[in-house]
Amino acid sequence: MCGIVGYVGSRQAYPVVIKGLKRLEYRGYDSAGIALLNGGIKLYKKQGKVADLENYTIGKSLEGTTAIGHTRWATHGEPSDANAHPHLSGSGELAMIHNGIIENYASLKADLLQKGYRFKSDTDTEVLLNFIEDIYKNNGGNLEEALRIALKRVVGAYCILLIETKNPDTIIAARKGSPLVIGIGKNEHFLASDATPIVEYTKEVVYVNDYEIAIVKPDELILKNLGNEKQTPFITKLDLELDTIEKGGYDHFMLKEIFEQPKTILDCLRGRLNAEKGTIQVSGIENYLEEISRANRIIIIACGTSWHAGLVAEYIIEETCRIPVEVEYASEFRYRNPIVHNGDMIIAISQSGETADTIVAIEKAKEQGAIIMGIVNVVGSSISRISQTGAYTHSGPEIGVASTKAFTGQLAALMLVAFKIARHRQTITEERFKELCSELALVPGKVEKILEQNESIKKIAESLKDSSDALFLGRGYNFPIALEGALKLKEISYIHAEGYPAAEMKHGPIALVDENLPVIFVATKDVYHEKIVSNMQEIKARKGQVIAVINEGDLVTPAIADSVITIPEADEIIAPILNVIPLQLLSYHIGIARGCNVDMPRNLAKSVTVE
Ligand code: F6R
Repeated sequence: MCGIVGYVGSRQAYPVVIKGLKRLEYRGYDSAGIALLNGGIKLYKKQGKVADLENYTIGKSLEGTTAIGHTRWATHGEPSDANAHPHLSGSGELAMIHNGIIENYASLKADLLQKGYRFKSDTDTEVLLNFIEDIYKNNGGNLEEALRIALKRVVGAYCILLIETKNPDTIIAARKGSPLVIGIGKNEHFLASDATPIVEYTKEVVYVNDYEIAIVKPDELILKNLGNEKQTPFITKLDLELDTIEKGGYDHFMLKEIFEQPKTILDCLRGRLNAEKGTIQVSGIENYLEEISRANRIIIIACGTSWHAGLVAEYIIEETCRIPVEVEYASEFRYRNPIVHNGDMIIAISQSGETADTIVAIEKAKEQGAIIMGIVNVVGSSISRISQTGAYTHSGPEIGVASTKAFTGQLAALMLVAFKIARHRQTITEERFKELCSELALVPGKVEKILEQNESIKKIAESLKDSSDALFLGRGYNFPIALEGALKLKEISYIHAEGYPAAEMKHGPIALVDENLPVIFVATKDVYHEKIVSNMQEIKARKGQVIAVINEGDLVTPAIADSVITIPEADEIIAPILNVIPLQLLSYHIGIARGCNVDMPRNLAKSVTVE
């Protein structure tokens, strides 16, 4: 949610920052801007995408070896040139970009207005900047100190980068709640919200912690806490290759990421699952296995697609481990007064590892004595660092805003963890465990087969592209997949869609059914199969259009449904990871057929670092 990039060094900063903003555009794309230090601050900002900013800067003076840039997802103030970042302070001596929300901006603004400050934008960022400037003016122009004093008064979340005219080779940065990575080059430093703008220049990075301030010059990086004590930067080596963050011949990141799934699921299983021997080793949970196995209750916390992965995990864990599971929206959990007992196990699921609601929910549960397991994709992210135990999904960078490969990575990781715990608790037999291991190992190959159906799914998508609504139905393990199918369709195509447990349909949604309503059934073989076929009949009897995801060998459903997508059969516990793939492709093709920007759907951002 908002991407920030900074550069100090000996290169021209503009190309580095613009390229970095393009890599971070998935975090927000309402407006973009850049401020360069070169005999004063040169500021360029535009409503729209980074490409609009680039066009706007053609022919303008872009020299300078220090710059900060921002791509915005609007919080305070609509998307506009004025509200775009960077913002300039009243004196014009400071410029700042910000990712986060300053919750007490209104009271700070009231004070500043009384002092005669005037504002050009509606943003909380401009308020914070002038608040800093007000302190700066009165402390002899010590920016670092002014920032430290200001941040002690700020309520909210931030990652900010600040530059000042009188120190043209310095960026001052600070974070609380919003991520910041600093890449260390030779006589140069790169600052960004994640490592994707940095990886092409250096693999050595420092993840800045909450409540830290970084003073960054070409040849020096000083980290301090808000008490002005120096901190030792902890340098990490990036495990990220450039080609994983480029489109690699695909028209869109979303399609590339859907097609990467045989590999990304394999990467998640690699070194952990040995189907031949029938063993699972997840290094991140081995030390906690005893504690996890003794948990009386598991609470899963997540948002959006990750919450859907949590719902699938609820079914799997209860079935295999026989531990009661509750699945909570992080945003609800954090604000109510949840009952968490010492020794309860929290599983926090997050692709980005930076979702603000999930982070706060984890902190709340941790305070009450829960053990935190993180199922996270982004290595080194905040959630991975605050979790005591967990597993990375190893899905690689997900750039498309709608989650695809991260979801199947989450399911694969959760299945590994669930089966491992189940065997440890002996709630499944050795034989069943081995059977599940073998089934899981077959998933990447089966996903390959599903992807071969891309063209036929595209044809079905063509027939659905003018629909205004759609209903997704599934039962058991496939109910969360129906929810995920509906979420994907609304995000990508802006068609209103809802997911329901198929049997619930009769309690309301069936009223919507007529010849114009497509109903997508996830109807692969499981214990509910006959029941869901009856649900299909009920839709057909009311002239709804039925599209069904079914298994090879199902001869009954094709006679009822208008269209079918046939995929390989799998154990019902494993099947959700396969069944979601056709729904991802369906949404992608419907979105494309409707002319939507599938990689950057309107109003969305990849990493929701504000609540
Ligand atoms: C939907 C989607 C979102 C995220 C949600 C949580 O396609 O991507 O619903 O799943 O914002 O994000 P993470 O997993 O990063 O915590």
